Order: sequence, then C-alpha cells, then structure tokens
Amino acid sequence: MSDALPDEALSKGWYHAIDLAPGSTTRGSVDLRAIASKVLPERLDGLRALDVGTFDGFWAFALEARGAAHVIATDLDRFHHATWPPRQREANAKEAGENEPGARFGLAHRVLDSKVERVITGIDEIDADRLGGPVDFAVIGDLLLHLRDPVGGLERVHAALNPGGRLLSLEQVSVPLTLRFPLTAVADLETGYTRMNWWEPNLRAHRDWLRTAGFEPRLKRIYKLAAAGAQAKWHSAWIATKR
Ligand SMILES: C[S@@+](CC[C@H](N)C(=O)[O-])C[C@H]1O[C@@H](n2cnc3c(N)ncnc32)[C@H](O)[C@@H]1O
Repeated sequence: MSDALPDEALSKGWYHAIDLAPGSTTRGSVDLRAIASKVLPERLDGLRALDVGTFDGFWAFALEARGAAHVIATDLDRFHHATWPPRQREANAKEAGENEPGARFGLAHRVLDSKVERVITGIDEIDADRLGGPVDFAVIGDLLLHLRDPVGGLERVHAALNPGGRLLSLEQVSVPLTLRFPLTAVADLETGYTRMNWWEPNLRAHRDWLRTAGFEPRLKRIYKLAAAGAQAKWHSAWIATKR
C-alpha cells in the first residue's frame, strides 16, 4: 500500500465501499464486503481471475486479496458505450459525468498498490485472447440486468473460462415473480420504468440464464444488497461451473 492516502479517495462519492487502509473505507453506496466473505472462495491462490464490469473495482480487489495469481478487471471505457435501452441512451450519456467507469477504480488501484490489470471491453467482446489467456474464476455482479442479451454475455465469459472453471454470478432478482412463479423462468422487462435496466429475472430465470449459457449453477446465497435506498434489492448469487 502506498504511504499517503489521498484526501480525494475518502471525500468523493463512490459506488463501492472499499477498504483502502485500516479504518479508511470509501463512502460507497453499495457495500459488498459482508456478502463477499460468504460467496467467494476463501483462497484463489495461483488462479487467473476475471471481474466483468468492475466499476470501482470491489470484486477485482477482493479476488486479488484472496491470492489470485493474476486478476483482470474489465469495463467499458465510457458509460454511453453500454447497451442501455435505446430511448434512455442519450439521457444516460449526458448524465454520465462523474460516474464514468475508471476514475474511482484508478484511484483505488493506486492507493492499494494493486496489480489488477484493467482491460477495456464490453462483455460482448470478451474472449480468452483479449484477456491474455483463459481464466479459472470469474465474477459478474449486477451487470446482466443492463444487457439486452444476458445469455449472450454469459456465453462470452463461458468461452473465456478454462474447462471446469467457475463463475460467481450475482444479480438482483424479483421477489414477486419468484414467489408467483417458483418453477418457471420469467423476467420483468424494466425498460419502461428504469433508466438503465433491461431485465429483472426471478430466481429460476437467473439459474436458467446460466444453464442456457452452458454452466452448471449451484445456488450459493439469497441476500438483500447492503446499499443505499432503492439500490437495496434482493439478489441471488450462484456458483456456476463450466460444463
Ligand atoms: C451496476 S455496476 C456493477 C458493478 C460491479 N460489477 C458490482 O457487482 O458491484 C455495472 C457495471 O457494468 C458495466 N457495464 C454496463 N454495461 C456493460 C457491458 N455491455 N459490457 C461490460 N460492462 C458493462 C458498467 O460500466 C459498470 O461498471
């Protein structure tokens, strides 16, 4: 860790709560620290790991802290490169400003003296070559909901994993649709009333997205995201093994 903790690291608003030093945590609106210890393997020593859609980098730094030999964190260069629902694209691009992926990640990376490699790519362009080789463990958190084609995105990550490789997939799930259709995969198309979301799956749909892409998913956890206000949604976390 570098000596001085820049004031800017603690004063600005963050998406992720990240421990930058003992007693110094970024003021993130989303705190994944408690759930990470429940859903991530304790150690990932020697493995090549991938965090897709890293944003401030919480999952990437958590993979590094668990001993992964090499961690790649992918994200878009610009917010407006996302496949936001078409009618919201212009408004989202205008509002991006401070929220551009990369700025806070760079700061945390520097303060943590991290070796995580940042690769600019949309999930749809991910492949092993682009990542410098296949990976053994991947995380995708709260990203499939932003994709028009969640299974297509998962397929790309499936192809980038080594045989037997594992994916931790964490997404918000609809409680009403899970209770009403426990055995049927259904998803709410949210484009009519959210700015950035395509889908909110029920529990079965999250599982079946993973199965359809070629994974063998095992439910790891259902939890409420530790987050501010409306972001505190119910989530499911699956460990999905590449078949
Ligand atoms: C809600 S944040 C989630 C951040 C983090 N993965 C987590 O679990 O907290 C969504 C992230 O996905 C990225 N993203 C959105 N659309 C993407 C796409 N088509 N391909 C890759 N990343 C994308 C955004 O830039 C942002 O970093």
